[in-house]
Amino acid sequence: MTLRPFAIGPRRDAAPTLMPAAIPSGADARAFHRSMPGYARTPLVPVPELAARWNVTSVHVKDESARLGLPAFKILGASWAENRALSARSAAPPCATLAELAELASSGTPATLVTATDGNHGRALARMARLLGLPARIYVPDGLPESTVAAIESEGATVLDTDEIYDAAVVLAAQSISDDDVLIQDTSWPGYQGVPGWIVDGYATMFAEIDEQAGGTPAMIAVPTGVGSLLQAALQHYRQSPTRVLAVEPVTAACVTASLAAGKPVTVDTSAFTTMAGLNCGTVSTLAWPLIRARLDAGIGVTDGESAWAAAILRNAGVDSGPCGAASAAGVEAARGVPGAIEALGLDASARLVLLSTEGSGTPQAGGGASGTAANSVISDRS
Ligand SMILES: Cc1ncc(COP(=O)(O)O)c(C=O)c1O
Repeated sequence: MTLRPFAIGPRRDAAPTLMPAAIPSGADARAFHRSMPGYARTPLVPVPELAARWNVTSVHVKDESARLGLPAFKILGASWAENRALSARSAAPPCATLAELAELASSGTPATLVTATDGNHGRALARMARLLGLPARIYVPDGLPESTVAAIESEGATVLDTDEIYDAAVVLAAQSISDDDVLIQDTSWPGYQGVPGWIVDGYATMFAEIDEQAGGTPAMIAVPTGVGSLLQAALQHYRQSPTRVLAVEPVTAACVTASLAAGKPVTVDTSAFTTMAGLNCGTVSTLAWPLIRARLDAGIGVTDGESAWAAAILRNAGVDSGPCGAASAAGVEAARGVPGAIEALGLDASARLVLLSTEGSGTPQAGGGASGTAANSVISDRS
């Protein structure tokens, strides 16, 4: 029997000096996202079945199964980072709108956008490249489903299968960069922090929406976690609030949980298969690590089976969740069985929880969105 990866972070009141300095927020990113075709706040859906099961006041799921025309949240980061990187390359200020950025891309120095991906980020980058009329070159790890590769190719990008695990694909993409290329990678390492920081700024849009939709900050938020950039955005957003943050990873790729337990970044072996492909990362982003170490309340690993169980419950509530998206619900369920976790996460009867469902199942429901009894109370609107 394998032990479940689990770690509790430093008590915040006991370790205030560990908090790193504030990183500027992505205030302009939200305005830029609003300029993109089809921008709308994604739904925040109540799941009373989980609230009753966990004996908490409420559970809401941020449903990212349809974000700016794609089935995952990743385009929030890719779009803003491309704006920042391409405008910096032309020594221009960031563009206020997508139309301005397209204009800059057609008149500035030609560029190929490059990244490594385990799926969603690469597709988002490829979609943005298409919108901007730029070529894209995407490196993928071994074992990515054919349908995922086809989805990236359908955006017009060149896909290169590296036959390696995700961490090695990231290295190959970085090594391939020439003067004609711009690397837009969603993880950071020493010497490469600007672009990943802009990606994290782009993710801030999701948390700003949750604040508006929930009318306040939750007691706890659960975040599906790969390299930890989305987690970094959550930790940054809630840094001044009492909101507890739980990172959820596959048991076979729990690098954030292992690092939290060790008190230093630890790389884990990710060669085992997981259905949670987007979370199958072995190394924590260096930019995210100081915040994770100082502020993360807990990390936990979940199995593919647990994620599938959670996806079925969310489907009943009208949320279309893929394996990574449902990991957050699976993580809370699993945490309830781990000694010390309920206290560390503040899961008492007064708690209001938010779970990030970061991707759809890839099989959009009839009608293209939420369905079922909960759909009427979905908090969703255009803004
Ligand atoms: C659907 C989904 N959820 C969550 C994540 C985790 O994001 P991060 O790698 O920043 O931790 C990813 C990353 O690719 C993803 O595709």
